[in-house]
Amino acid sequence: MNILDIIAKKRDSLELTKEEIEYFVKEYTNGNIPDYQASALIMAIYLNGMNSREIKDLTLVMAYSGDVLDLSQFGPNVVDKHSTGGVGDKVSLILLPTIASLGIPVAKMSGRGLGFTGGTVDKLESIPGYKTNINIDEFIQNVKKVGISMIGQTMNLAPADKKIYALRDAISCVENIPLIASSIMSKKIASGANKIVIDVTVGNGAFMKNKEDAQKLAEQIIEIGELAGKEVRCVLTPMDEPLGNAVGNSLEVIEAINFLKGDMPKDLKEVVLELGANMIQLAGVGNNIEENKEMMLEKIQNGDAFNKFKEMVQNQGGDVSYLDDIKKFKKSKYTVSVATKKTGIVKEINAEEIGKLACYLGSGRQRKEDKIEPEVGIVLNKKVGDFVEESDFLAYICANDENKAREAVNKILEIYKIEK
Ligand code: URA
Repeated sequence: MNILDIIAKKRDSLELTKEEIEYFVKEYTNGNIPDYQASALIMAIYLNGMNSREIKDLTLVMAYSGDVLDLSQFGPNVVDKHSTGGVGDKVSLILLPTIASLGIPVAKMSGRGLGFTGGTVDKLESIPGYKTNINIDEFIQNVKKVGISMIGQTMNLAPADKKIYALRDAISCVENIPLIASSIMSKKIASGANKIVIDVTVGNGAFMKNKEDAQKLAEQIIEIGELAGKEVRCVLTPMDEPLGNAVGNSLEVIEAINFLKGDMPKDLKEVVLELGANMIQLAGVGNNIEENKEMMLEKIQNGDAFNKFKEMVQNQGGDVSYLDDIKKFKKSKYTVSVATKKTGIVKEINAEEIGKLACYLGSGRQRKEDKIEPEVGIVLNKKVGDFVEESDFLAYICANDENKAREAVNKILEIYKIEK
């Protein structure tokens, strides 16, 4: 088989065979196909698509590119959750410890930032000492010991996705149903949970900009789940403005900690409770969605959810003194407030634009090998629907570069649409 023929086939909108997909995934993962050829094929898939059979083949080959965990020792209901991506999406950091505090085992493998969206692994790594790259035995031991483990893809789980994911991020090939469905489901299959809730975000801050596309992605994900013997439920959630207030890695961890201590922004609370209530239902712990939400709120209010988060962080080497005292998190060199000159109602805060701005400040990557700056980002002080008067602060910019901070102030003034 020859990679040039495979690229040419997809370039010409032809269907790839299972063997061709297998060849590409294996050889690229092993380092035998260079990034430039892989980029050409990924771009051809992005432009010309894949049918359902090709997507399923791609998913399974990526899932089985490394180890595939068997978590049946934890009973018939090990739950997992994944988001198709968003801006200010710190849901996993809040939701999963809350679910684990209910005694439901959680084994979660997350990704890094992708495109203009953030990634849970980058967020977790902004807690000093937290190890996202533990080995499989430790991952399983952690679930056994504290009921939850959240890790990255550094161990041998879906290594093909790890490589392709980073490549897509660096070549602007993210917003694509075959690539997103296979990426997410390969990780979910490899990491072993059998009940999975997928948060399919919709809106300008999501990869799916409208409901029809989100629905198509959801259907594809569910089909793959059925093929792999997993019970998958997709919940469509809005992503037009950033979720909650913070955008940027340690800023979002701080917001998650505050949430777990009871300070819950309305939009974030709705998403956390909706996804969680579905996870609880899938786990067979509660059948009534509204009652499940109450169960979660009780766990947050009585401190159990926060304590579970602390337990998980400590167990994975993180310094929990940061969770008790958020002032310990490293601060950016500059914090600049953005004051409006207008009076009126905030009509729009384009989440994609905010996400791109946060990346520009250093919270995301322009190239695969870029290091992120955990402390930079944006904290929104006003959200859609809020009334603002002249000189009210719309947002705060956290930056390590003075010029970038200045540029960001002007950009925020452009992004906020305020009408009388
Ligand atoms: N999350 C993933 O894991 N992969 C994608 O492609 C998008 C979101």
